[in-house]
Amino acid sequence: MSQTALKIDATKRGDAYNNIILEKLTDINVAVITFNRPAALNALNAALVTELGWALEDCDSDDKIDAIILTGSEKAFAAGADIKEMQAKNFSTVYLEDYITKDWERVTKCRKPVIAAVSGFALGGGCEMAMMCDFIIAAENAKFGQPEINLGIIPGSGGTQRLTRAIGKSKAMDMCLTGRMMDAAEAERSGLVARVVPLAELRKEAIKTAQTIAAKSRPSVYMIKEAINKAFETSLAEGVHLERRLFHACFATDDQKEGMQAFIDKRKPEFKNQ
Ligand code: CAA
Repeated sequence: MSQTALKIDATKRGDAYNNIILEKLTDINVAVITFNRPAALNALNAALVTELGWALEDCDSDDKIDAIILTGSEKAFAAGADIKEMQAKNFSTVYLEDYITKDWERVTKCRKPVIAAVSGFALGGGCEMAMMCDFIIAAENAKFGQPEINLGIIPGSGGTQRLTRAIGKSKAMDMCLTGRMMDAAEAERSGLVARVVPLAELRKEAIKTAQTIAAKSRPSVYMIKEAINKAFETSLAEGVHLERRLFHACFATDDQKEGMQAFIDKRKPEFKNQ
């Protein structure tokens, strides 16, 4: 698939985006959100995170979009929260504005799948943002880390929690206490990323993956997200119970009839998302 063949919609808020780029590849129902602060290695400042919130809101409510990709530049997915913006803040400021909450966590509220396509540095809040996505595809040059300890702070956007769930206690302790970086191969070995691809292939691979998901039945996609996310919040018995109920609910959809009939007819299913 050539990139030029993909139709890109201008969005209503497109003109207002100064720190991200939003592309809607409407012919394949995929949106790509690119962090765009190259001079600061995509450090996540308030303006960027606000725009990210708008873009996610827009994509999540756009019927022409079924999967979202979050990405950065070759050198950096994002090198963390913006240290220059953060440095002078005091306790009451961060506490009262509930710093690193509004819009930062918007990605976790998306019902549509969000894939992080990571090349270069994904550090601190950048690593945490990638972990908030549904899964990570990494380029071979990707580097992950929670270096907050070097700044006299601790991870503040879920790093101690999501990294621990992703790679286990021992490695999470190692990463967060030493502040060291993990390369793409170690990240794949540790289960932090779903796959590693050559840098030149990252965008293509992420779009292909998003397109594959976007072509599935939307109710199944949402239910799978809901069920897998529940695995982190509940007991095994409750999680399996939810899965069973959602599985049963699939039999109320036309897409279940179509998916199974298409298999029997040896043809591709045509899902209607209902
Ligand atoms: N915030 C603000 N600016 C940043 C930044 C950040 N997190 N990371 C990089 N930059 C800026 C640098 O200040 C520099 O700007 P100037 O040219 O104006 O000096 C520019 O981006 C390029 O950076 P470097 O010159 O440092 O590039 P490098 O290739 O030598 O090093 C790096 C790259 C190893 C990623 C290094 O920039 C670095 O260590 N960055 C900070 C990483 C970090 O500590 N992240 C955690 C932030 S705290 C956090 O995220 C809290 C949380 O949990 C939410």
